[in-house]
Amino acid sequence: MQKSLVSRNLLALLALGFCALGMVGCGGNSNSDPDTVTNASVSTPPPGPDDTPIVEQAIFNNAVGFPVVREPGPRLSTTDEAIEITEADFMRGLPTAVIQVPDGLDTATNQAPFFEGLENIEVVAGQILEVVFKPRDAEGELPGMFPEKLPQGGTFDDNFDGSKTFRFQPLQNDVGFLKFTVTALDPVNPQYRTSQSVLIKITLPTDLSTIPNVAPMLDDVIAHTVRVNDPVVFELKGIDLNGTVPRLEVPNLPVGGSLVQDPRFDEIYVLKFTPDTIGVFSIDILARDSVDPALTSTTAISVTVLSELGFQREGEPLRSLAQNRDVQIGFAALQSFYHRPDGAIYAATAAREYDIVTPENSMKMDYLNPAPGRYQFAATDNLVAFAKLHDMTIHAHPLVWYRQLPAWILNSAVATRETHMTDYIDRVMGRYAQDMSIWDVVNEPMADNGTLRDSIWLESMGAEYIDKALLKARSMSADATLLINEFDIGFAGAKFSGLMQLVDELQVRDVPLDGVGFQLHLFSSFNQFDDLRANFAEVAARDIDIYITELDVSLTEGATTARQAEVYAQVVAICLEQARCKAIQTWGLTDQYSFRSIFDPLLFDRAYQAKPAYGAVQNRLAIFGN
Ligand code: XIL
Repeated sequence: MQKSLVSRNLLALLALGFCALGMVGCGGNSNSDPDTVTNASVSTPPPGPDDTPIVEQAIFNNAVGFPVVREPGPRLSTTDEAIEITEADFMRGLPTAVIQVPDGLDTATNQAPFFEGLENIEVVAGQILEVVFKPRDAEGELPGMFPEKLPQGGTFDDNFDGSKTFRFQPLQNDVGFLKFTVTALDPVNPQYRTSQSVLIKITLPTDLSTIPNVAPMLDDVIAHTVRVNDPVVFELKGIDLNGTVPRLEVPNLPVGGSLVQDPRFDEIYVLKFTPDTIGVFSIDILARDSVDPALTSTTAISVTVLSELGFQREGEPLRSLAQNRDVQIGFAALQSFYHRPDGAIYAATAAREYDIVTPENSMKMDYLNPAPGRYQFAATDNLVAFAKLHDMTIHAHPLVWYRQLPAWILNSAVATRETHMTDYIDRVMGRYAQDMSIWDVVNEPMADNGTLRDSIWLESMGAEYIDKALLKARSMSADATLLINEFDIGFAGAKFSGLMQLVDELQVRDVPLDGVGFQLHLFSSFNQFDDLRANFAEVAARDIDIYITELDVSLTEGATTARQAEVYAQVVAICLEQARCKAIQTWGLTDQYSFRSIFDPLLFDRAYQAKPAYGAVQNRLAIFGN
């Protein structure tokens, strides 16, 4: 069993590497139609039986009311964010320093700080690496400095002579290349900065026993609040810096609970139990080294269990209030919330309050189509099941975007991208057009200055990519609502004007477009409500709809939740005033999982308690008139 898993993983990796070279017909589908491979010089194989999700055993999730499906094989996710350092980079020598010059600074009279005596460095795993960072400045004083990110176990210590030492003992997991960056601050103007990276090459020693065996640990688990009698699942991940997989144990398994190793990921264990008592509980998780079983570490995870009453809210649910006002109210769903400890209360909160759901990440191309001919539908299929169960509209997001793209598309030949784009729309809408009525066909096409943003799609098709995407989407569904979704358009400016010009041109050319999505990632200091109202009116004047697609209001430093509530209330009021405004959708459900969670931007806090913003939205939806 273990063996076949390994080979499947290996095959998948090979497929990825192979396809990244721009090869044709190299999908993982053993069943792919030979015609597709031979005629279509650029088409990749469509989804096949190998991509069909299978039902997951209930011990691995806490879905309440629908059977969860999972990918048939290992998860394949490749994103544009991973940058590989190569031997050639290392040989080229110390990377060039990156200097940030603040506006108005005269570089003739003040030179940037610099580092003395650095070079790329090679080290053997198990040895202790020491690199001294000595920033200097032509104007005399000693610059301050800070490291970008320390690798696990690394330290950056002050030598009290203006220098600092980076100390790190790389182990088996670190073998390869590492980039360590330190930024020096100019003593006169600390905004004037020099960032210098050092490349570190880590190799294995001939005698592996010279590498110390360290205790394994548990990957970070944040505290969670759950509801009594709801099933709770923790996906626990063991980490061993020696590159082996630790065994996880729960010495005091809650009554009726289970702990099962995930059949697809050796390092993940799933703990499932149903708390029947209210209180704050701590559960010990023991990680045991696979080489030396006596080597262990224990981590306590904390769960707060509240009664059902602890989650009850006053007043009517948002979705019924919204319905009375002829608008819909939605949220972006955390991918695989049914694999989170608090997934059950997450689902219950969402189901009570919202009637639209958007997948926050699972329909992005890097996830949905990570390699040519490979598709990961399970997370989206689950969202469809969840939405059906709770009678929610699904707002699909996004079909064509410049970010969260798989490596294979980033590396594809420019001339092939139109086919890849239309194939993708064909396959995704082919599968989901019946289930999803609103589509962000093009996401974030505008640059700040009002021209079209640079993207792999613009590079390949010019401005026409937008026409082509919308036309293709319309051909897949006669009645879907097709949107262009954009950020920073909630106020007047070149970006919004540029977007309106684009809409005008599309309309002249008869390209189907039903509305504009206003993302509205705001801060609590936002006060351009008149602009927002005017921008809505401009869209409405073009006879198309307005969707507030990604509303959140980040708390600026020192701001109150009352101010945040006020911003929410104003946005809701402006939507209600405008007959063309069809939906108010927040980007996430709870601060616990918001992509801006450090700014607590949503209607529910980490324990699913309604914040003042919730009450404000509720009140605003309930009040007719101004
Ligand atoms: C964000 C997600 O919330 C994150 O989880 C992910 O890591 C990056 O993308 N505009 C969009 C959304 O259109 O897709 C982005 O979502 C937020 C900005």
